[in-house]
Order: sequence, then structure tokens, then C-alpha cells
Amino acid sequence: MENECLPNFRNCRSIPCCPAIRKSLLAGKSAPVPPARLGLCAGEILVIEPRRLAARLAPGRVERSGVSRSLMAEKRSSPIPDPVAAYDRIAPAFARLAQRRKAYLDRVDQLVISQIPAGRRSLLDVGAGDGTRARRIARAGGLRELVLLEPSAGMRSNWPAQDQARTMRAEDLHQEQGRFDVITCLWNVLGHIAPAAKRVEVLRQFARLVAPEGRIFLDVTHRYNARHFGAVRTALRFLRDRVSPGGDVVVAWGAGGAEVRTTGHVFTHNEVRSLSRQAGLIIEKRFVVDYGTGELRRRSFEGNLLYVLRRADEPSKAAAAGAV
Ligand SMILES: C[S@@+](CC[C@H](N)C(=O)[O-])C[C@H]1O[C@@H](n2cnc3c(N)ncnc32)[C@H](O)[C@@H]1O
Repeated sequence: MENECLPNFRNCRSIPCCPAIRKSLLAGKSAPVPPARLGLCAGEILVIEPRRLAARLAPGRVERSGVSRSLMAEKRSSPIPDPVAAYDRIAPAFARLAQRRKAYLDRVDQLVISQIPAGRRSLLDVGAGDGTRARRIARAGGLRELVLLEPSAGMRSNWPAQDQARTMRAEDLHQEQGRFDVITCLWNVLGHIAPAAKRVEVLRQFARLVAPEGRIFLDVTHRYNARHFGAVRTALRFLRDRVSPGGDVVVAWGAGGAEVRTTGHVFTHNEVRSLSRQAGLIIEKRFVVDYGTGELRRRSFEGNLLYVLRRADEPSKAAAAGAV
């Protein structure tokens, strides 16, 4: 998950996420915001690339805005918490954050359910959060055995006692035995695993744990989602990546009036392709899903990316022909 919700305008003023507000605040104005704009802003959270964060906090700009100072002070005084610690903190607000991305999440769930081959029985969901989506997918897809992996105790706090739980991190999946017909890793969970070598290892474990003809579903925040991040920002990212590939970001949510930050990664398609290859997986299908409306899009820069992966050693002509 990234780009989630700062719950109100007050938070937007302390961390200006909406470009119009940010511009006003950086110019030292009081940021008059038309209601429609406010609505948009209230649904956003900040994703800052470390390089951009440093630039934004440059002296002069900071002093005039009176806004970034708090960020800068916080940056100096507190290290960015690890993702699991951050999710522990936002757990009470998670359902509300998910509600704001309902259209996107529902569409991804629908696509996953529609792509589960008939006759499958078991599902492993990695980074399951509160487990709501995995339970829904399992129910609709006729998967009777469900295992939820979630390292954040806060996120697990409302799980029913009968859930089969794993409390380890995805990086510790080598401890897991068994075979799963379906593995899901949804809403950019992979983006909370760092560095890239660990992401490959996690995908390698998926390849080990998935049944020979099983499927893995993975959606990531698309680094070149111009519809969401804006054309200029995306173009700059694209150009910068030609010089030095990036993708590591600071993710911030407004939760209960406080700001919670953590580290994340946003992906390009080529990156996912390379990670999959290194892990012994093949991309069978890719969907582009609008992060705002949940609509399916044709062009990759219009949405986030949902992948259907399979083992590279699965003998399947159809899948080989359809590899992206
Ligand atoms: C955006 S939430 C997604 C939750 C769920 N997949 C969903 O779509 O509702 C990301 C989840 O990944 C979990 N997470 C963070 N780091 C993780 C790691 N190293 N291994 C497994 N899960 C992790 C977080 O605790 C959080 O529950």
C-alpha cells in the first residue's frame, strides 16, 4: 500500500500531499482550498522519494512554508520505522484506509478470483493485513484451506481464533513447508521488503511453495502510474531511472491525527519481470488497474500492476505463449 489517506486537511497542511496545497504552502500562503480539491486531498497520502525529500527540505523553501520544518525536525530526530512496526501503529485505522481504496482493492480481488483455476483447494496470503481480502478470495474461489501470514501483531489483532496464522515475515518463508494452489501477496506487500535481493528470495520461496500448476497473484504500486502520480513527476522519475534506477520511497499515513511513516518501494514492469525471472517464475498475465477508480486500463502508465505468475518449470504451452 502507498499513497493512502491523510484523514483531514490539518494533516495535509503538515504534510502537503495535494500539489495545489503544497505549492501554496511552499509559497508561504495559507492555501485556500476549494471543497472539491479538499476532497481529493483528504484521500491522499504522501510518497516521497528520499532524493526528492532532501530537495523539498532545502533551506529557504522550508523556512518560507513553515510546513516542511516539522518534517525536517522529525526526520532528524526519529529514524523511519520498519514497515511491521508502522503497520502495528496504523492497524486501528487500517479498515478506514482500505475503504478509501475500495474500488481498486475490490477490482483486484475480482480479477484474482476470476483467474483461480477450477478445483483448487488451498491459499497462502502473504502480508495478509486484517485478513479480510484473503478470506473473501478464499470463499469466492472455493479454496477451503487458508493460511494467513502477517508479522504485525496489530494487524492480526482481530483475526478469528480459527484462522491458520503464520506470524513470521515473508523473508522467513523458508521455514514454511507445504504446498499451496494459490499464493497471494496483495497491495504492494512486496514493496515493504528490502533490499531487492530479499524480494527475489521471497518470490523464490513462492515458487517453492506453490503447487506445480498453481498460481501466484501479486499487485504492486507502479512507479510510472502517471494517472496517479502525475505526468510531470512520472516523466522525471522515468528520466532519473535512466541514470540511476530508484524506487525506494518514504510512505506516510495520517492515522488518528498522527503521522506514521515507513519505507517502501514502487516498481516498474521491467523490475517485476526481472525479479520474477530470477526467482524461477514467469509472468502469465498482467492487468493494469486504476488506483483511483478500480477500472481496468490498457496502458501501463494508467494504473497499478497486478500479475499472475506461475512456476517457470510448469509444462503449460498456453502459459508460455501468453508470457508477458
Ligand atoms: C498494505 S497492507 C496489505 C494488507 C493486505 N494484503 C490487504 O491487501 O489488505 C501491507 C501488509 O504487509 C505487511 N508486511 C509488512 N512487511 C512485511 C513483511 N516483511 N513480510 C510480510 N508482511 C509484511 C504489513 O504488516 C501489512 O499488513
